[in-house]
Amino acid sequence: MGEKRRLKLGAMLHGVGSSTSLWRHPEIQADASTNFELYKTWVQVAEAGKMDLVFVADGLYINEKSIPHFLNRFEPLTILSALASVSKNIGLVGTVSTSYSEPFTIARQFGSLDVISGGRAGWNVVTSPLEGSALNYGKKEHPEHDLRYRIATEFLDVVRGLWDSWEDDAFVRDKETGVFFNPEKMHVLNHEGEFFSVKGPLNIARSKQGQPVIFQAGSSEVGRDYAAKHADAVFTGHDNFDDAAAFYRDVKRRAQTFGRNPDHVLIFPGISPILGSTEQEAERRYQEVANLVSIENALDYLGRFFEHHDFSQYPLDEPFPDIGDLGRNSFRSTTDKIKRNARENGLTLRQVALQVATPRSQFLGTPVQIADKIQSWFEQGAADGFMIGASVPHALEDFVEHVIPILQQRGIFRSEYESDTLRGNLGIPIPENRYAKSESGVQV
Ligand SMILES: Cc1cc2nc3c(=O)[nH]c(=O)nc-3n(C[C@H](O)[C@H](O)[C@H](O)COP(=O)(O)O)c2cc1C
Repeated sequence: MGEKRRLKLGAMLHGVGSSTSLWRHPEIQADASTNFELYKTWVQVAEAGKMDLVFVADGLYINEKSIPHFLNRFEPLTILSALASVSKNIGLVGTVSTSYSEPFTIARQFGSLDVISGGRAGWNVVTSPLEGSALNYGKKEHPEHDLRYRIATEFLDVVRGLWDSWEDDAFVRDKETGVFFNPEKMHVLNHEGEFFSVKGPLNIARSKQGQPVIFQAGSSEVGRDYAAKHADAVFTGHDNFDDAAAFYRDVKRRAQTFGRNPDHVLIFPGISPILGSTEQEAERRYQEVANLVSIENALDYLGRFFEHHDFSQYPLDEPFPDIGDLGRNSFRSTTDKIKRNARENGLTLRQVALQVATPRSQFLGTPVQIADKIQSWFEQGAADGFMIGASVPHALEDFVEHVIPILQQRGIFRSEYESDTLRGNLGIPIPENRYAKSESGVQV
C-alpha cells in the first residue's frame, strides 16, 4: 500500500504479424511465425526492456482465407516452454481455449510451465470464437456464445482446484525415513459438475507464484463479467481513449460488485505503436504497410470475424451490408463494434474492410508523443498496462529502444524487475492454497 502505481507492459509475439500482408515487407522475415531464433530474440529484447510479459495469441481453425500467421504458427504452450529456458524474469502468457480442451490437461500443462519457468506462467482464457473449431475436435457444433462462458466458468474452477492439489510443503522427500510426501497435504478434488467430472489430484505441485496468472480476452457483457469475477488481467481491443476508459471503469466496477479488489484486475488494451523520428516518418511507415493490403485481402480479413463470411458478393462502395446477426456467435464484442461503427459513421464496405484490415494506430508518432499518450491513458483511467503489438517492421525493438527509456525516466515504468515471478512483477497477490486456508480458519 502507498506504493507508486507502475505501468505494466506486455509484448505480443505474433510471427509475421496480425495483418494479411505485412509478411511481404522487405524488412520482415517471411517465415517469422515458425522461426524459433526470432522468437528467442524477441523474448530477450522484451526482457532487456524490463517488460512484464510476452503474450501468445491462438486459434483453432484455419482455412485458405486465413492470414499468413494463422496458417503456420507455434502452439502457445510449446513455444512458451522453449522460451522459458532462454529468459529469467519475464512472464510467459499463452492463450488456450476452454471450449476445446480438458481441465486436467490444461491444469497440468500450465502447472508445468509455471514450475519450469520458476513462477512466470500466465493463461489467457478464451472461449474460442471460430465456429469451424468444432470440426477439428469431433464436435457436431460450436457451443453457443453464452454457453461457452458457462463452460469456461466451471473449467477454470476445476483447473484452480487442481492447481491446489498439493500444499506447498507437501513433498517431504525424506530419504532417511522414506517419506516422499505428506498425505495430509495432498488433496483430491472429486469434482462432479455440469460439464466436467474430474477426480484429481493433479500430478504437479504449485510453483513459487502459487498459481499461473489468469488473463482473459473477451469483451461482451458475459465476457466482462467473467473477467471481473475470475481474471487477474484482461486483454482488450480498445484503441481510442473514450472507449478504453469506459471499458476500464466498467470492468473495475464489476470487479468491485463481485467483492474483489479492482486493483487486482489489471486492464491491458492492445496497441500497435508506429514510431518515427518525426510524425511524418511514422505516417510514411504506416502507409508503406497499409499499401501492401489489397481490397481482396481486406475483405477476407473482415470475413473471418463473421464466420468467414464472403463479403466479396456485395458492392464495395455502397453502405456496409445488412448481415443480420452474423458474428454474434463468434467474435461477438468485435463484430458488434464493427457493425456499430459502420452504422454510426455511414461507412461503405470498402471503408470498413480497409479500416479493419489496416487500422491506423492511435499510437502513431514520435517516441515522446507515444510515451505521452501511454502516460495519459495510464494516469487518466483507461489502462493499467498495454499489450504491445507489431504492425510495422521492428516495432518491438523500436518500442524498447525509444519509448521505454522515456517511460523509465518519467518514473512510470520500472528500470529493474521487482521480482522473478509474473505475479511479483504485476503486483498481484499469490493465491493461498484453498486447503491451507481452510485449515487456518479463513473462509474459502
Ligand atoms: C482483445 C481480444 C483478444 C482475443 N484473443 C483471442 C485469441 O488469441 N484466441 C482466441 O481464440 N480468441 C481470442 N479472443 C476471442 C475470445 O475467445 C472470445 O471467444 C470472443 O471474443 C467472444 O467473446 P466476447 O464476445 O466476449 O469478446 C480475443 C478477444 C479479444 C476481445
